[in-house]
Amino acid sequence: MSPNLTIRPAQPEDYPAILALLHEAFETPHEAQTVARMWQVTFPSISLVAEEAGEVVGHIFFTPVTIEGANGAERAMALGPLGVLPGCQGRGAGSALVRAGLAACERLGEEVVFVLGPPRYYKRFGFEPASRYRLHYEDRNMDPFFMVRELHPGGLRGASGTVRYYEELDRSA
Ligand SMILES: CC(C)(COP(=O)(O)OP(=O)(O)OC[C@H]1O[C@@H](n2cnc3c(N)ncnc32)[C@H](O)[C@@H]1OP(=O)(O)O)[C@@H](O)C(=O)NCCC(=O)NCCS
Repeated sequence: MSPNLTIRPAQPEDYPAILALLHEAFETPHEAQTVARMWQVTFPSISLVAEEAGEVVGHIFFTPVTIEGANGAERAMALGPLGVLPGCQGRGAGSALVRAGLAACERLGEEVVFVLGPPRYYKRFGFEPASRYRLHYEDRNMDPFFMVRELHPGGLRGASGTVRYYEELDRSA
């Protein structure tokens, strides 16, 4: 990680920079629009920024999810979206945001975190295919990209079922 990089909670004055970076990092405006909507409605949510030389270069967001048919893991969060400015990628900002975000989830008393994203990227943080635990994304076609990580051993406690994201995340923009 670059020595000039700091991770801190996002503040309202960061929002324009966060939305701008999400527009740049992703091919569609969907992620920026989703984050803009979710700020208004979710609690608890975790919103962290990576700052380099006074500039917001990355952002990570976590929102609560529920596991339908769960036997455990009542406290579950979903990671995403995660975005880093294209010109600042590959310098550890994404990893630092993921690690700080997982630690923040743990401090909140969460038990597990889900993510829908590139498995090759998220594997390095201890995420495993969720289907291994009979946990599924609502659209099962997305299961190959749907991963889970316990925040402490036994966090899943045999939980299984369909993971429901916050309704706002699924609403088309
Ligand atoms: C994915 C993303 C957040 C990573 O941020 P970053 O700051 O570049 O990540 P880091 O510097 O911590 O890690 C770089 C490593 O991740 C790998 N990586 C980056 N994007 C990847 C992807 N989509 N799939 C697999 N690996 C990926 C790089 O190859 C590099 O690997 P290495 O450590 O073996 O060299 C960033 O590339 C991004 O914003 N991409 C566009 C948006 C996106 O796809 N977000 C993720 C889905 S929510």
